[in-house]
Amino acid sequence: VIRVGLLGAAGRMGRRVRELVETEFAGQARLAASVSRGDPLASLLETDVVIDFSSPGAMSELARAALASPGGKLPAFVVGSTGWSAEQGRALAGLSGRAAILQSSNFSTGVLALLEILRWASPRLEKLGYEASVVERHHVHKKDAPSGTAISIRRAISPENPERVPVESIRSGEIVGDHEVAFRGPADHLVVGHFAHDRSIFARGAIETALWLSGRRDRPGMVPMETYFQERFR
Ligand SMILES: NC(=O)c1ccc[n+]([C@@H]2O[C@H](COP(=O)([O-])OP(=O)(O)OC[C@H]3O[C@@H](n4cnc5c(N)ncnc54)[C@H](OP(=O)(O)O)[C@@H]3O)[C@@H](O)[C@H]2O)c1
Repeated sequence: VIRVGLLGAAGRMGRRVRELVETEFAGQARLAASVSRGDPLASLLETDVVIDFSSPGAMSELARAALASPGGKLPAFVVGSTGWSAEQGRALAGLSGRAAILQSSNFSTGVLALLEILRWASPRLEKLGYEASVVERHHVHKKDAPSGTAISIRRAISPENPERVPVESIRSGEIVGDHEVAFRGPADHLVVGHFAHDRSIFARGAIETALWLSGRRDRPGMVPMETYFQERFR
């Protein structure tokens, strides 16, 4: 049974992760450390894998604490928080020298499939004269805009120049997370999108990723989500 540490345990996502670890995943994982605002971080370093759904500030603080900890084996890290600054990103990159890390703005398999579809379709549609644009909709409590997923979508559409793809961010009510990509031509348009109905899709995806990543705990480095996706779904 894998020992899971949870950072951001009291948040919307953290609560979902806890529920699922204690029910669906009870035979495979147990919650060995659970950290909310104000709690010390050290207990997280005594686990096999940490799941982060807090904020880049909290996760980069944990990265620095992990790097400052004496020699022993570090857990693997599944990083879900979004809205990273360059400096916070450097703290995570530093940690990847000693620990296995998988960072993703979206752990739902549906979004991974959408990214694959976009990587295939975008160059073809743009060659035919269609122009891509993105609309993302989230609940009013969301702290970052555009969403991490919209940033990943931009990269899938235009790896060379993601910024050229316009993104409109809408914040309304309790929307879990919608991402819609339109390809507009002069006289028609195509739409492809992902619409999350429930946060459990992200929580389940993060736990499944954590179970997989804990098996690579001895191999430090940043593991791209695509590597995981290809191993699991191809
Ligand atoms: N990758 C994915 O699939 C995915 C899916 C959904 C959400 N997310 C991302 O995951 C993060 C959490 O989302 P959420 O909706 O669960 O947000 P949330 O409800 O605000 O939960 C975040 C939790 O982390 C705590 N926290 C934040 N900064 C902290 C710090 N510096 N030290 C200690 N605790 C801290 C918050 O405490 P306070 O309330 O006291 O600030 C809160 O309990 C966001 O970045 C969101 O964009 C990712």
